[in-house]
Amino acid sequence: MTLTPQWLDELRSRTTLSTLIGRTVKVQKAGREFKACCPFHNEKTPSFTINDEKGFYHCFGCGAHGDAIRWMTDQRGLGFMDAVKDLAAEAQMEVPAPDPRAAKRQEQRATLHDVMAAAQDWFVKNFNSIEGAPAREYLKNRGISEKTIREFGFGFAPNSRGKLKDALSEHGMDLLIEGGLLIKVDGKEPYDRFRGRLMIPIRDPRGRVIAFGGRILGDGEPKYLNSPDTPLFDKGRTLYNLDKASPASRQTGRILVVEGYMDAIALAQAGFEDVVAPLGTALTEHQIERIWKMVEAPILCFDGDNAGQKAAMRAALRALPILKPAHTLNFISMPAGQDPDDLIRSDGPQAFAALINNPQMLGDKIWQVEYEAEPLRTPESKAGLKKRVADHVRDIENQDIAQHYRQDFQERYQQAFFAKRDSGPRRREFQGNSRNFKSNFVSYTPMDDTKSYLIEGYDLQIAKGILGGLIRHPSQISRHFEELTAIKLADSQLQTLLSELIGIALSKETLDLPGLLTILEQTDCYNVAKGLLRADALNFTFNRKLPDDTPSETLERAHQDLAEAIKVVTARPGLEAALAEATRRVQDDLTEESYAEQQRLRQAKQEFHERLVELTQIDDVA
Ligand code: UTP
Ligand code: MN
Repeated sequence: MTLTPQWLDELRSRTTLSTLIGRTVKVQKAGREFKACCPFHNEKTPSFTINDEKGFYHCFGCGAHGDAIRWMTDQRGLGFMDAVKDLAAEAQMEVPAPDPRAAKRQEQRATLHDVMAAAQDWFVKNFNSIEGAPAREYLKNRGISEKTIREFGFGFAPNSRGKLKDALSEHGMDLLIEGGLLIKVDGKEPYDRFRGRLMIPIRDPRGRVIAFGGRILGDGEPKYLNSPDTPLFDKGRTLYNLDKASPASRQTGRILVVEGYMDAIALAQAGFEDVVAPLGTALTEHQIERIWKMVEAPILCFDGDNAGQKAAMRAALRALPILKPAHTLNFISMPAGQDPDDLIRSDGPQAFAALINNPQMLGDKIWQVEYEAEPLRTPESKAGLKKRVADHVRDIENQDIAQHYRQDFQERYQQAFFAKRDSGPRRREFQGNSRNFKSNFVSYTPMDDTKSYLIEGYDLQIAKGILGGLIRHPSQISRHFEELTAIKLADSQLQTLLSELIGIALSKETLDLPGLLTILEQTDCYNVAKGLLRADALNFTFNRKLPDDTPSETLERAHQDLAEAIKVVTARPGLEAALAEATRRVQDDLTEESYAEQQRLRQAKQEFHERLVELTQIDDVA
């Protein structure tokens, strides 16, 4: 006889889980379930739930999950067979002779944990040895502290094909292969998988090492080498740093999701401990569901570049079918080319904090990506946008949620293309405090096709110069209300700052730099504003700090240049669009006329560009 699934089911159903668990921890009845403070991690408010009907316990904090048998093995520390025997005795059931294969599998799981723990110890030992010096140096250069090194358990794999195999030989070759530590290619001697790499242990929700990521020191391919899937490690179901992030999230009510190990570690070091990362792949449904067990609206951080935005959209689309009431995703975009680790190192933790204070909602993200997917100059392309968002809504399985999104997208569509063309009342949107903008969607919907300038790409750099200029010369803001309110910056932080500046200028008669900074200090834009004042990337006359006794001509010159820069940057989008249109006409139908028009626009664009260059290369004024 063997332990059949039926027999085990019988055993489970004869065991009252809450009674069993109640012997070790204090359980409280809560509706049809029982609650307790989780015995698998430290907590003060109970997130550990026991369901007698289903025979399962589950911790919403750390993810500990199992049945009566699992309780006996994981919490009481018994072997599988001992657990079964104990439970059977109590349930007055006869234990049949065990299935040797099943018993062996269970045993192997336990020993694999031992192997991984031994490997972790060994990597750490190497890290601290003479051989580990380059790894220590590498982390030092990346600004990783001693404390972080210890907490995250960094290790080092020496550059050798056999040192790990020898050092851990007592565990036997088979287990080392099964744990992914050795590579076995048919007919050849197994050899060490990780060689000459900085080792980052990957832990399960209970903090046990189940896999490794190995980073090359310096440049080379592949940058990261990861453990293969093993009986302990399922890449698509694991989240890096979950064991630490889960308790941290209970303090903050927040979870940040980043793309890389080092991002998670750098953020944790900077005080954002509620951070997890997938393991080099797009977020899976499992991972999203797992995160939703901790918080309802996690914040996903992606690079602002194209690849990052594609990844953000992929995550958004993956979430649609599994959306459920109250559960959603929020997004933030890093400045292009920077990941959270880079941003914190270059601009400090406040820069990151400012970003997460103003995340983009799921619907905004989807609308924005589709809105920007292609030019929307023809009725066909506009209808194409409508179809694309409608297709996404169709992926939402929860019909209540789908209905709201359908409505929301219809309104955006209406607003974008059929809203009345009088620009008067809509301007009011920019008055007052921009923090009323819950989303930064506003920066992507032209209120009026002819009166809105979407500033993106390189022009955002110039826009930064202009914003810096407006802060330095606040008296000039009101002079440019008209253009400034029509500008839409494709960077939510900058757009927020711009709206804030407009709002402040509207409510104040006279405004000087110290006064402006005092007001900005109360807002989320303060750090961005301070950064722009420091900005030395652009050399506009209006970005320079001018002494108090600056002659009025010099001041006037700076104001004129600022006006000119605003003119150039707002003219460009229209010019680009006109040029694209003219180029299309030339391709369709090359006539002397269409060609001349295209050339004229090219020339105009060139002149605009030269004017900008001139503005940044003016001879010294001071
Ligand atoms: P990144 O290259 O963005 O990682 O890849 P990172 O953390 O910023 O790396 P650093 O700062 O250069 O050290 C994101 C994640 O993708 C996976 C890893 O999980 C990495 O953290 N990845 C990346 C791989 O698995 N293999 C690779 O070769 C590269
Ligand atoms: Mn990085």
